[in-house]
Amino acid sequence: MCGIVGCILKDDEDVAPILLDCISKLEYRGYDSIGIATFHDNHINVKKDKGKIEEVDNKLDLADMPGNFGIAHVRWATHGDPSKLNSHPQLDEDNTVAVVHNGIIENYLEIKEKLTLEGHVFKSDTDTEVIPHLIQKFIKEKFDLEHAVRKTIDVIEGAYAIAAISLNEPDKIVATRKDSPLIVGIGDGGYYLASDSPAILKYARDIIYPERGEIVILDKEGVVVHDEFDNVVNKDIETINWTPEMAEKEGYDHFMIKEINEQASAVRNTLTQKENIQNIIDDLEGIERICFVACGTSYHASLTGKYLIESLAGIPTDVVLASEFKYSANTLNDKTLVIFISQSGETADSLKALDVANQTSKTLGIVNVAGSSITRRAQYVIQTQAGPEIGVAATKTYLSQLTAIYLFAALISNNAELLKELDNVPDFIDESLENVDLIEDLSRRYNFARDFFYLGRGYSYPTALEGALKLKEITYIHGEGYAAGELKHGPLALIDEGIPVVVIIPPGDNYRKTMSNLEEVKSRGANVLAIGAANDESLKAKADDVIPINENVKEIIAPLIYIVPLQLIAYYITLEKGHDPDKPKNLAKCVTVE
Ligand code: G6P
Repeated sequence: MCGIVGCILKDDEDVAPILLDCISKLEYRGYDSIGIATFHDNHINVKKDKGKIEEVDNKLDLADMPGNFGIAHVRWATHGDPSKLNSHPQLDEDNTVAVVHNGIIENYLEIKEKLTLEGHVFKSDTDTEVIPHLIQKFIKEKFDLEHAVRKTIDVIEGAYAIAAISLNEPDKIVATRKDSPLIVGIGDGGYYLASDSPAILKYARDIIYPERGEIVILDKEGVVVHDEFDNVVNKDIETINWTPEMAEKEGYDHFMIKEINEQASAVRNTLTQKENIQNIIDDLEGIERICFVACGTSYHASLTGKYLIESLAGIPTDVVLASEFKYSANTLNDKTLVIFISQSGETADSLKALDVANQTSKTLGIVNVAGSSITRRAQYVIQTQAGPEIGVAATKTYLSQLTAIYLFAALISNNAELLKELDNVPDFIDESLENVDLIEDLSRRYNFARDFFYLGRGYSYPTALEGALKLKEITYIHGEGYAAGELKHGPLALIDEGIPVVVIIPPGDNYRKTMSNLEEVKSRGANVLAIGAANDESLKAKADDVIPINENVKEIIAPLIYIVPLQLIAYYITLEKGHDPDKPKNLAKCVTVE
């Protein structure tokens, strides 16, 4: 998704190198173009083009631009191909206003038609270009930049975080947001804007979170926030406890492998949330039904939650994809707890669903990013403690979400045994990472496959779905997760000689039935790669390959450990195929459009 950054320095240093550094930290969001605008000597300088930051920087020398304030953008194309013209910043035709935007302007076509009739000439195919044109139009009507932005947001519909600079008002950046993320950083050397905190951690960790419709004005003297009636809003300043180093690779080749290796501590740190979770449960009286709402990997964590809560607490639990949630809204009431699981806390589909759920039900967000929109709008919040996750494919945040869900399920069902079991999970995770050499070898053998199946039963079914998602996301190989018992109702027809089938088969209640399913695919020629207990000799005899997991890992906690080899398989196959695991094509870390 697009990412925006803005900065105004207190002294006269050039801001471009800082803008470039900050915007590079948003690469993880997924992008196809990069652009920077700075203000200097009554002129807006712009450098932008399609391509990776490094390529465009080699071509245009992005850090070499005069001016001590400016804005920058990474674009993830929605309207118009990736191209120089469609890259941001977008400007009005006289180059007097420059704007960066994250989100989608839904009524841009009608605005464009109207402005064209008024004589405006548009150069790009973007929805964004109407914004600088509108701002310029209002400035010509004698509004200052702040009020021109205010008038503009009265006209545009959709989701946006916007930052604008204007020739008419040197030394000022004006920004606003609705349904797209935007934070403001207060640093020693200057003031910052960004879509997400990793962009500015190095420069500012004191953060203001603007609400929808508030206007933020940055100048050399500081930051002022105005509400829709022009009143000054006294915003709280919150200090982020993430460090800049946490958002660096720290010697690893990729963020993804670093984050996989950080999973034991992500779980350990999230286990500290036990008291907070108990307090929330104590406060939730009369809940008769739970509904999880999420997307992507967070959806798979939610599915595991359904298995846990229904089997341990007997509370009927549904899991709904956030983008499909509105069709369930009629079933909600004040006895329903709707739990939103989200790494970013900014996923547009989840936010829309949260607004709906807040009208009738109790809402709880389980979120990794502090201060994000879900944490501000949900009635209760559990903060997962994974630290910043930069790789697009979620790994350590998945395990920290699962940890919070396990704690919730164990506490709501008073299950002391499960609580005790959870303390062993970090060590089991670290032990599972010792399979790396074996997995590298398997990845060399399996990377030519065109399709994979992943099978699991019960608690292991969501793990199968998540394993398949990791494969699809970063290797671009087709992977299909199935409930092992469902295979015979259709997909068995696809099992041919040599097709890799990954079977998740921990010891426990589902073992024997899963073993029968393993034999079904084996007898049809599949290449079975099993993840099972280290002491399971019959599994070794039946599967082609086995990735061993400590035999003391019980079925109920298996989702927290058995996923690790599946993440590693996807990672190493991706390396074999020569792709970048951190930045898969077409995907974005944080999806702020519906
Ligand atoms: C995107 C990401 C996924 C993530 C999903 C939900 O698709 O690429 O990794 O699982 O969004 O994001 P959230 O931040 O709400 O967990």
